[in-house]
Amino acid sequence: MRSTGTAPRTASNLHRVHEERVFRAAHPVAYPLLCRIRVPVLRVPGVGVVVRDTRLIRRVLLDGDTFDKTGPGSPADLWTPILGPSVLLNMEGADHASLRRKLAPLFTPSAVAHLADAGLAPLLADAVRRLRGGETVDVVALARSCASRLIAELAGLPQDTLDDELFARITRITGMVRLTSSRFSPRQVGAARSILADLTTGAATAYRAGDESTVPGRMRQLGLSEREALGAVGAFVLTGTETLVAFIPRLVAILVDSGWFERLRAELELRDELVQEGLRVTTPSPVMLRSVRGPSTLGDVAVRRGDRLVLANFLANRGPGDFAPGRGRAAGQKQLWFGAGPHFCLGAPLALAQIARVLDALVEGTADGPAEVTARRPARGVLIPGYRELLLRRADGARP
Ligand code: HEM
Repeated sequence: MRSTGTAPRTASNLHRVHEERVFRAAHPVAYPLLCRIRVPVLRVPGVGVVVRDTRLIRRVLLDGDTFDKTGPGSPADLWTPILGPSVLLNMEGADHASLRRKLAPLFTPSAVAHLADAGLAPLLADAVRRLRGGETVDVVALARSCASRLIAELAGLPQDTLDDELFARITRITGMVRLTSSRFSPRQVGAARSILADLTTGAATAYRAGDESTVPGRMRQLGLSEREALGAVGAFVLTGTETLVAFIPRLVAILVDSGWFERLRAELELRDELVQEGLRVTTPSPVMLRSVRGPSTLGDVAVRRGDRLVLANFLANRGPGDFAPGRGRAAGQKQLWFGAGPHFCLGAPLALAQIARVLDALVEGTADGPAEVTARRPARGVLIPGYRELLLRRADGARP
């Protein structure tokens, strides 16, 4: 799909105002600090070397020999004490590549289409029915139910494991991460491990049964220990639920605020480009971390072994102007919002399948009238900027 079309007549900058609020609610200190950086690379005391240039971020992501995820200040420092040593996002080299290869069949387009169709149909049918009946739907609650359902299926967890209460506890773990955090305190590690232990009890059953359609079962067949397999489940739950629960309502808000939601209704073939554009302007995983293994230069800043790199992906992706489908492709950004190189988001096909299905349902549910956001509340003190609540309805559904 190559056509991008022109902006809808109702286009406005309202979505930028709301996006700014969402970022500031999540990171009242770090967000304005990073936004003030105008140079491609800057050493910030207490934070690390901040990189905001698209080309340099890509170079770092592709050069795993010099910049890795296991050294000081990297994600491994944060997540290994909680998840164990073998959960992809804290691995490098041959072991990492081999585990990714083995997990790949769980994320092929047909595997995720099957998972998404089977898992989401009842939830989405209910949302369509409610919107058509003039009811209001909380897109955050809907996204949470959908993300939980799919991750539970994938990870071999009982369907009711990821309820709202547990999701809130997961958000408490990720919410402990700040820009300056290099490690969790022993108390935080203990709290996070006990939350994940509740979660992974069900996954242990899938591991012991060796069921190949689940991550733990597949990992057992690959010879991973139970602890490693349960760590991977924890990693999927941490990376795969919050990103989507944050992104889907932001996408819907941007589309409605900018007028593109109505345009999408008329031209459904714009959907995939609009989703990519939403990912570009929101960058749900706003920052990535790396540790420097050996001396190098980024822009005009010399870096040395042990330096912590903060890749400000959300700033890099803002590059080519305001929201309009096709912008990221035109700027050659190649889905940088999902990372690049060996750690490129493993769950991207699952994420895209889910986003597309939820968006289609919301368009279908509001088919008889313009969609309207009637209330929204940004989430405070969270790692991934997003809404706590975003209420959507058909504009003519304004009956009591
Ligand atoms: C909109 C949704 C999502 C976004 C924007 C996103 C973004 C990212 C990014 C930027 C990375 C690379 C991090 C780095 O290089 O430091 C990543 C890695 C990863 N993502 Fe996602 N993600 C999303 C959804 C998901 C979902 C649904 C899953 C489901 C299981 C998932 C699983 C993973 C895993 C396992 C990795 C680690 C891969 C590795 O280290 O080899 N993600 N994601």
